[in-house]
This record gives sequence, structure tokens and C-alpha cells, in this order.
Amino acid sequence: MNTKASTAKLPVHVGIIMDGNGRWAQERGMARSQGHLEGLKTARRIVAAASKAGIRYLSLFVFSTENWKRAKDEVDFIMGLVKQHLMRELDFYRQNRIRIRHTGDISGLSAEIARELQQAQRDTKDFDGMQVVLALNYGGRDEIVRAVRRLLDDHFHEAPPDKTQAASGNQCSMPCSITEDVIARHLDNPDIPYPDLIIRTAGEYRTSNFLPWQAAYAEYFISPALWPDWNETFLHEALDAYAGRERRFGAVHAP
Ligand code: FPP
Repeated sequence: MNTKASTAKLPVHVGIIMDGNGRWAQERGMARSQGHLEGLKTARRIVAAASKAGIRYLSLFVFSTENWKRAKDEVDFIMGLVKQHLMRELDFYRQNRIRIRHTGDISGLSAEIARELQQAQRDTKDFDGMQVVLALNYGGRDEIVRAVRRLLDDHFHEAPPDKTQAASGNQCSMPCSITEDVIARHLDNPDIPYPDLIIRTAGEYRTSNFLPWQAAYAEYFISPALWPDWNETFLHEALDAYAGRERRFGAVHAP
């Protein structure tokens, strides 16, 4: 395994769109749920490998706001896996000093899952190792809508603009000066740096509403392998590819 390049220029934050669980199962004549079961094992392997590699933040796209459209059995199975994982794997996170975070709309999750998620975040909040961000009931557009709502709530719960402001024609307080920074501060996890690298497995070239605001300048790596087949070697392949990229953030470098 070549880890030279990845240690030379390591992304701080990696996001993964874990795709291909269903296809993995179908190829084997198994139920889709088996693919998700294997997918969860892979997630555990990759969390350990990423932490070992020195990644500081790992965002995993577990369940999107659109995934509710799947068959109820499949949704229930995935949610059951997530719940079990949060309840049973805390030792694994503790041993590796990994902090669990969440992004997504927690109000749309069942009370049980929401409780486990909050508990896991509380139990791991002081760990100084890698932070794993579970994107659960997550949609990028939904996150931006929620951010704007939070922004409006923050400002309209404050005292209304005073008469002098109104008299000067300025009818609103802070929301008048909306900048990228103001929106960014109202996203789910404003303290987390934007992802440098987004990996998608199963060979699909789509962003699927995953961190659209934060990943505006991320590098993408598409792996043809299905998520249940993913392992540390594939992760290092992605990290090596990232190390070889020139990031210009829209600028042009002098030759
Ligand atoms: C995509 O496969 C995967 C998902 C919808 C999410 C399931 C993810 C897990 C079970 C891992 C959970 C991880 C943690 C840490 C809780 P797909 O069903 O879209 O595959 P397909 O495109 O081949 O049908």
C-alpha cells in the first residue's frame, strides 16, 4: 500500500457518499438489507482506517432526506442498523477517542434514534481524535433552508429595529447584511472546516445533495468499487489521488 503521497498532503476533512450496498447484495442474490449490513461493517473499517491515517474529520452520508422514498422495510432496516450502531459501538469510538457529530434534520428522525444520536454526541464530546459526522436525514438544500430559518429566528427574536433605523429607511436589523459568512455560521456544524475531498463509491458521478455549500471547492474521487467491498487500500488510493491534485480555488497560478 502506498501511503507516501497521502501523508505528504493529507485532507483535513473527507466526506464519503457510501453507495452500492443494494447492488452488492443483488449481485449475490441477497436481500438489499444484507448489503446495508455489510455497508455498516465497511463504515466501521473505514472510520478506523481514516483515523489511523490522520484524517481529522470524516463525514459519512448515511441517510438522505430523499431516502425516505425507499420501501418502508428498507428504511426501517437502515434505521435499526444506525440505532444498534450508536448503542453498541460506543466502546469503539471511546477506544479511538473519536467524537461523533451529526448533520441533518434531527426533528425528522424517530424519537429513539434522535435520543441515541444526542447521547452518542454527549458521550464523545470531549474526545480529541477524529470527528465522525453522521449525515442522517441530511439534504444539502434542506440544510441551507434550515440555516436561513435559524438566521431569521435569531434576528427576529431580537428587539425589533428601533425607530431611528426605521426612519432612516433601514427596516431590518442584521439580515440586511447577508453574506456568505452569515449563512455559513448558521449551517449545522459551523466549526467544522469544509471538506477537502469527497469520495463516492459504486462509480456514480453525482453529488446527490451531499454538502453542496461546504463542498463547493472540494476535490472529488469516484471509486468504481461498491461500498461493502471498500477497504483501507481504496481509502489510500483516494488519499494519494488527492495528494496529486492542484487546488486552485478558482485562481490561476503563475507558470
Ligand atoms: C447506499 O447504498 C447506502 C445507503 C443508502 C446508506 C446505508 C448506509 C449504511 C448502512 C452504513 C451506515 C453507517 C453508519 C456509520 C451508521 P444503496 O442502497 O443506494 O446502493 P445501490 O445504489 O446499489 O442500490
